[in-house]
Amino acid sequence: MRVSAFDERVNIHKPPEGKPESNFAEDVRTGLTAAPKMLPPQYFYDEIGSDLFEQICATPEYYPTRVEHGLLEDVVDEVVDLSGPEVIVELGSGSSKKTELLLRAVLSAQPSLRYVPIDVSEKALADAGERLLQRFPSLTIDALLADYEGGLKHERVREQQASKLFVFLGGTIGNFDHDEAVGLISTVRRQMGDDDRFLLGADRVKDHATLHRAYNDKRGITAQFNLNVLRVINRELDAVFDLQTFEHHAFYDPELSRIEMHLISKLAQEVPIRTLDLTVEFDRQESILTEISRKFTEQGLVQLIEEADMVIERHYEPENRYFSLIFARPA
Ligand code: AVJ
Repeated sequence: MRVSAFDERVNIHKPPEGKPESNFAEDVRTGLTAAPKMLPPQYFYDEIGSDLFEQICATPEYYPTRVEHGLLEDVVDEVVDLSGPEVIVELGSGSSKKTELLLRAVLSAQPSLRYVPIDVSEKALADAGERLLQRFPSLTIDALLADYEGGLKHERVREQQASKLFVFLGGTIGNFDHDEAVGLISTVRRQMGDDDRFLLGADRVKDHATLHRAYNDKRGITAQFNLNVLRVINRELDAVFDLQTFEHHAFYDPELSRIEMHLISKLAQEVPIRTLDLTVEFDRQESILTEISRKFTEQGLVQLIEEADMVIERHYEPENRYFSLIFARPA
């Protein structure tokens, strides 16, 4: 039987710790029995959620994707020049659309490249893998179905010989508070040799109206994305959230320099989560914090990188300073 090029050139690895979903039940229990209630943002991204996120990126209000893409187009040749990677490891690769710019630039400068995307969505890894292999005949892919820490520990990342470029785009670093972000970048740092490089995308502090609009698009796609996490819990944990009884609420907190996204219960209610043998009580107007998205100053980014024992080699930003690409190396 003929093995397709796809089968030979892409592997989807599940790290030994098991599926990334393995903590889902405990994370939901912990988050929904805490005061105030919260849920980790990684669980937005089932198939529907990943698709809704792609739709958010295409809304006129959500500027980060377009701004980062444009910026990366402008600087990609220099980034490739300065890093000359044999391997690109990407945290939270999703659709890999922006990464395609990097892959193209590398493969026009050298004959081959290994791409190691890390993502919690198997569908996103498979779809992106198939598309990229068709586009780039000399690319090989080792996709890791894992969360960031799990993926970074994988043997495919640890292999030390090749020179690597680690990339974390989209501004997802903003989902982490300062200490967690330093922790994650430090984990990347521990996988880096002296010649390896790190490319980080981060959203910047800017006028509040622009920030607010980006998380409150007119068509309500961000609201659907937010509510989708309840649908995921219903399906995976046999729960009975009525999505009609919750409302999307997103706002910018200038004190903390971050967007907070909440789901607000419109009424007092009890929601059984059968698999957890748990009933969650909501007061009227009680909220679940579903995501933080931090916005950075230039100084904040310098601090983040330096606390993780790296130094900034280039800081790229567009004229309006809406978004940053930080190119860093080990200190
Ligand atoms: C994928 C985490 C970068 O924080 O802007 C978009 C997710 N949430 N709209 C962000 C998101 C609501 C996004 N990140």
